[in-house]
Amino acid sequence: MQQVIAGNWKMHGMATELREIEGFAASVKATPPSADVLLCVPATLISRAVQVAAGCIAIGGEDCSPEIAGAFTGDISAEMLKGAGASAVIVDHSERRQYHGETDATVASKASAARRAGLLAIICIGGTNAQRLAGNALSVCGDQVAGSVPEDMTASETAIGYEPLWAIGSGHMPTPEQVIEMHAYIRDRLVARLGTEGKAVRILYGGSVNPHSARAILKMPEVGGVLVGGASLKALDFEAIVRAMPHPETAQALPNRITKSSQHWDTAL
Ligand code: PGA
Repeated sequence: MQQVIAGNWKMHGMATELREIEGFAASVKATPPSADVLLCVPATLISRAVQVAAGCIAIGGEDCSPEIAGAFTGDISAEMLKGAGASAVIVDHSERRQYHGETDATVASKASAARRAGLLAIICIGGTNAQRLAGNALSVCGDQVAGSVPEDMTASETAIGYEPLWAIGSGHMPTPEQVIEMHAYIRDRLVARLGTEGKAVRILYGGSVNPHSARAILKMPEVGGVLVGGASLKALDFEAIVRAMPHPETAQALPNRITKSSQHWDTAL
């Protein structure tokens, strides 16, 4: 599967911002990138975003209910997102866990709902800074994979968004070595959970990705794409990330190009 560059608008976006999507879609149509491009937007914008994206950019939702329909005031089902034209949904962004008390079990049920509706489920995982400092970054993510990814998910229905909480919106990122180590570990845990399907699930890195860092990240082993928050809100920045996609022949060379001592993203370019 191709890498995916996914934007996450969170609770941003009014009708006027549809122009950003329209301009970006035109550019993607003129020069197609070598990655899948997905923009997850608030539910209020999905159907209009699908129209202006004109098939050049996939549109996704920000969250979904585990339920199909019923007396759940304010909730939106995966089927409703699908009906509005979405092809993916973010489930369990850390902000949902933090502000809405969502647990691994909630996430697993939302991921199953996405699957039921035919949406790609982007299941977000990632630990806090305190967990990292205590040396638990890997085990926290491993537990989240075990608890949040339903064991019957297939690779084409699932993507993982690895987003360390301290990196989200902070301008700080893990070192290249830490990203590589974590993605390898998540791959291992996915294979343990899903068997062969776990080998092909795309693992997206998220947290302060910008046009400068995207190129290095996208070349790393086991990186199936990026999940971009702030930098996806402006078409120019998001497009720069999409255009940062390495050519396939250079992607293979990466493991030798990052030294154990490198601390800065520049050294990984
Ligand atoms: P950020 O957000 O790119 O602004 O750090 C990423 C996310 O929360 O998905």
